[in-house]
Amino acid sequence: MTRPPEQVHPGVWKFTLGVPEQITPVSSRHYPPAADGLRKLGTLHATPVTPEGVPSKRGFLVRLPLAPGEIVYGLGLQLQSFIQRGLNKKLRVNADPRIDSGDSHAPVPFYVTTQGYGVLVDTARYATFYCGSTRHVGEPPSTAGAANPDGPTAGDLPAVFRERGMGEKGEILVEIPEAGGVDVYVFGGPTMRAAVQRYNLFSGGGALPPRWGLGMWYRCDGRFNQQEVLKMGADLRAHRIPCDVLGLEPGWQSHAYSCTFVWSAKFPNPGELVRQLGASQYKVNLWEHAYTNPASPLYDQLKSHSGDFAVWGGLAPDFLQPEARQLFGDFHDREHVSLGVSGYKLDECDNSDFTGSWSFPELSKFPSGADGEQMHSMLGQRYADAIQIAFNRHKTRTYGLVRSSGALAAPYPYALYSDLYDHAEFVKGVAKIGFCGLLWTPEVRDAETDVELIRRLQSVVLSPLALINAWYIKNPPWMQIHADANNAGQLDPNWQWIESACRTVMELRMQLVPYLHAAFVRYHREGLPPFRALVMDYPQDSRTWTIDDQFLVGESLLVAPVIGSALEREVYLPEGEWYHYWSGQHYAGKQSVKVAAPIEQIPLFVKSGTLLPLAQPTLHTADPASYRLTARAYGAGSSAASVYEDDGTSPAVLTEVRLSWDAASKSGSVKRDGPVRGPQYEVVDWKTIG
Ligand code: GAL
Repeated sequence: MTRPPEQVHPGVWKFTLGVPEQITPVSSRHYPPAADGLRKLGTLHATPVTPEGVPSKRGFLVRLPLAPGEIVYGLGLQLQSFIQRGLNKKLRVNADPRIDSGDSHAPVPFYVTTQGYGVLVDTARYATFYCGSTRHVGEPPSTAGAANPDGPTAGDLPAVFRERGMGEKGEILVEIPEAGGVDVYVFGGPTMRAAVQRYNLFSGGGALPPRWGLGMWYRCDGRFNQQEVLKMGADLRAHRIPCDVLGLEPGWQSHAYSCTFVWSAKFPNPGELVRQLGASQYKVNLWEHAYTNPASPLYDQLKSHSGDFAVWGGLAPDFLQPEARQLFGDFHDREHVSLGVSGYKLDECDNSDFTGSWSFPELSKFPSGADGEQMHSMLGQRYADAIQIAFNRHKTRTYGLVRSSGALAAPYPYALYSDLYDHAEFVKGVAKIGFCGLLWTPEVRDAETDVELIRRLQSVVLSPLALINAWYIKNPPWMQIHADANNAGQLDPNWQWIESACRTVMELRMQLVPYLHAAFVRYHREGLPPFRALVMDYPQDSRTWTIDDQFLVGESLLVAPVIGSALEREVYLPEGEWYHYWSGQHYAGKQSVKVAAPIEQIPLFVKSGTLLPLAQPTLHTADPASYRLTARAYGAGSSAASVYEDDGTSPAVLTEVRLSWDAASKSGSVKRDGPVRGPQYEVVDWKTIG
């Protein structure tokens, strides 16, 4: 029995098919929908697609139509495929997935299509999405009803369109094990971009990292003790390496696998450590996972609120239960956040079939009634919910890392990461996260060559979280790229040159902080992903449909990272006028251009009509000089931009600072829209390009 759909917010329809399960992402959500933002996106009259539900012996089946030429994107962090149409994906939470099966650190049962709508299947099961790859016996291929006149039936499109039957009518089948029904949410557009905005707003609006979170991050060697961490902090400053956040890896706690959450003897005075680092304007981030060691003071109380299987000998807390979250949040507050710890790296909340088979099995039982499968699908976010209790108490925002995520993730201030270390896939990850409300960092560790290190660093500074993860190397990677030599203290004879090249790359990040922060404000308020694939903004342009090695940052920047040793690359510029960030050279859009990419330059383009605020590069975002801006006006016309003063407390209390460039009078102006809450932005220089 299918009930009529309910329009739960303007442009968001809920279809209840069969009898849904009790434990789902929507029923367990912690952030309410951003109803205001949804209202502002406007009303839509009819649902763009109607799902059907069919009970099956294997659980429940949902069917959704696909038009000829309709292209499907999404399903979470799928590092090995971009277009999902024609593929099958089983959305199973798994660390380091090496094959394109749907296993992912962050599988998300949400997709969007070039027809301009999105679909969320509200399940915590490992659902299989057959994305137009199936046809019933006797069903003839049909191209009738192509809604997209530019549809991929045209012969000049990549073979993938023909091989995967994208030019024909099809359907998406979603097979959900165990369930007797499911709620399906349909997000109207009319564009793909608007549908994603609606999904992100329905999720609660996008995360807004505190300004310091957008500076550089450096994770120290896990073997360091308190003195060595302090020395690393001092060395980075002495070498003029920008850094806002120092991370501690396993080793700071008395037991790491599983975790006690108690400081080890190597850190005899953690309060003093955090205080001293804070005096040098460093925030401290702690690595941990949730599995609670028998030696932890939390163990006894947590035991009755945990699953029935151990992980590394520790408890797997049932964070679907408020009691477990409260115990965890209180403890983290008392032991870390009250000392000034700014956030966490929530590791190993995924699952593992590919890396040594650890974690609890799917058949686990949790006191909330969830089984292991449901818990795996939701652990990353529920774990973050427990930790959030501590930050809420201090009325302060956090930014951190998490290794697993899922549906409705947009409001979570955590970037995903992975131990897979494929640069090309890492870059593609940045293009894909924008479809599904995720954040991701293509972190930098060691490297095969100097050039690779610099290229990786260029990619990470143009991502949601600019992370150097030196957890297994004693010296920064620019001093020695090879891990063994690095740990043996054999520095590269050329290290000063490499360090200087890396410093310049990191300075680009620091210059972009005000721009990135403003893009995140938009994510928070309007649901617009700060990092997204070109197709999201240019769906009418068939050339963008397959591009996953370039992406947009905010409204105005287009990035095309370089992989390998190349010193030039092809870049596709969509319609409009573009300027090369480094040379200021003008390019007409709707063409592929080959651009030189000398080692110190990542190909970066600015859309004409942009007023780009660039900060003075500083060592950290607390430096008042980071509020001094050069505003670059691109193109002949007038332009405007907003930056936001943010004290790191509630995102509701930002002060908007509006910058405008008037082309006629060739003058700029700055207008502050709200109270002063700390350092103030000022424009020290106006420049025109083009
Ligand atoms: C891994 C994690 C790495 C590092 C390491 C420390 O699980 O992905 O980034 O933190 O643990 O043991």
